[in-house]
Amino acid sequence: MSLSTIELPRAGAVPPKALRQVQSAMKRDGAVVLDGLFPPALLKKLSAEVRRRHGSGQLRERGLVRDIAGRYAAVLPFEGPFLDSRFYANPALHKMLAALLGSDYRISSLETVIASPGAYEQHQHIDGPIRFDVSLGKSKKAYHGDLSGLPPYAVTLCVPLCDVAEDNGPTAIWAGSHRTALNAKPPSEACIRRDYREEHVVGRLGRAFFFDYRVFHCGMPNMTPEVRPVLMFVFTRAWFRDQNLCDVYPRVVISKRNLSRVPRRYKDLFLLAPSSRRPLWD
Ligand SMILES: [Fe+2]
Repeated sequence: MSLSTIELPRAGAVPPKALRQVQSAMKRDGAVVLDGLFPPALLKKLSAEVRRRHGSGQLRERGLVRDIAGRYAAVLPFEGPFLDSRFYANPALHKMLAALLGSDYRISSLETVIASPGAYEQHQHIDGPIRFDVSLGKSKKAYHGDLSGLPPYAVTLCVPLCDVAEDNGPTAIWAGSHRTALNAKPPSEACIRRDYREEHVVGRLGRAFFFDYRVFHCGMPNMTPEVRPVLMFVFTRAWFRDQNLCDVYPRVVISKRNLSRVPRRYKDLFLLAPSSRRPLWD
């Protein structure tokens, strides 16, 4: 794997040089690997909570998508270990996200994707492009300006909740392909495979990675007898809304009671949760 890897020596400490590395890696590759972002004990608790909810069947029952090539995705509530500020407002994570999205970014969603044994290769895709097409009558014209250098507006932190190797379903990322996602004519899968190098993010529990919403990626097969759970923690600029979740309610799940426990300085992270909203009409 030749994606840039940032070693985070201890929670909260991200020297300016490392922040510049995160920015430049995301600009170049649309992805960057992070080692040591979360304390191991916290990761074990997050993993146990996801496995408990998976084991009870409630996640599959509430799945956003119940079968993506043998894997499913479900929204997770901010409860239990997910309510630990070392997770949702991790100081190192905050510094890096602010460097990518501006300091007023929001939590867009927290999901888990669970690849069952036998899950096969997912189709190559991007998570959410933006389009500037103009329609008039039956004609639709794409925007032909150069959007390849647009900074990120939505970034996913993928946190595997187990060791990931080539045989249990790593994420494949076509490094640098994010620059083409907003082309007037989006590239074909064959072009992406031809023009960009394919990277598989493997590593021990404790390794996480950022990827830009526009980078082409897919989940690889899980050929082991164990499930492979990951977290997909999505952050966006304050103005961006993920169209993939427009029919999902709530997209950020935190009860009023739990939100009241969130320190004031972190509350804006949850502005997309219904419990943050001020009701004007009953
Ligand atoms: Fe995806």
